Amino acid sequence: MQYKVDLMLPSSQAWLDTVIQDFASFLQDHADCERKASAMVMSFVAKYPEKHEIIPELIETGIEELQHFQQVYTLMQQKGIPLAKEMAPDPYIKQLMALSHGGTPETRFRDRLLLASIIESRGCERFKMVSEVLEDAELKRFYKILWASEAKHSHIFVHMALIYFEEREIYHRLEQLLTEEARIIKDLPLKAALH
Ligand SMILES: [Fe+2]
Ligand SMILES: [Fe+2]
Repeated sequence: MQYKVDLMLPSSQAWLDTVIQDFASFLQDHADCERKASAMVMSFVAKYPEKHEIIPELIETGIEELQHFQQVYTLMQQKGIPLAKEMAPDPYIKQLMALSHGGTPETRFRDRLLLASIIESRGCERFKMVSEVLEDAELKRFYKILWASEAKHSHIFVHMALIYFEEREIYHRLEQLLTEEARIIKDLPLKAALH
């Protein structure tokens, strides 16, 4: 079985240039994304306490995301960059999550898992791009370790979905959601942020 998620549209050089030009803002946004990722994973535990097959791995993933937050925050402290006072809503996440609305509770559960795997894959792709061009050795090493961790998360959510749904249904829906994700990422305004 395949757990890998193949994004349909690579992130642009223009996005990478925007991020590198204002890396302090990128770090502020990134810290916020990790904190929200942890909350998102734990919201599965709150919404689906009966899905006991996946609870231990959800908790573990929630802890890992919180550790990522701690690691970004530590780097920010060392560089004298404060946490952002107020974060603008993330249009990428908002548009993606809207794709899970409607349907039945079961299809919403399925879509939430698949969207989580897509969000992790996009994060992984972008952290890898960042790690390849950064010149600061410490930041470069951090983003290299991070992208490997996010790649693992991407696989975890597909694996979880396959516990509860037919393989054919999962890959078919994943393809639909990936098509939508490519459209959303293409139209996102450029910002020194993860999305
Ligand atoms: Fe993370
Ligand atoms: Fe992650």
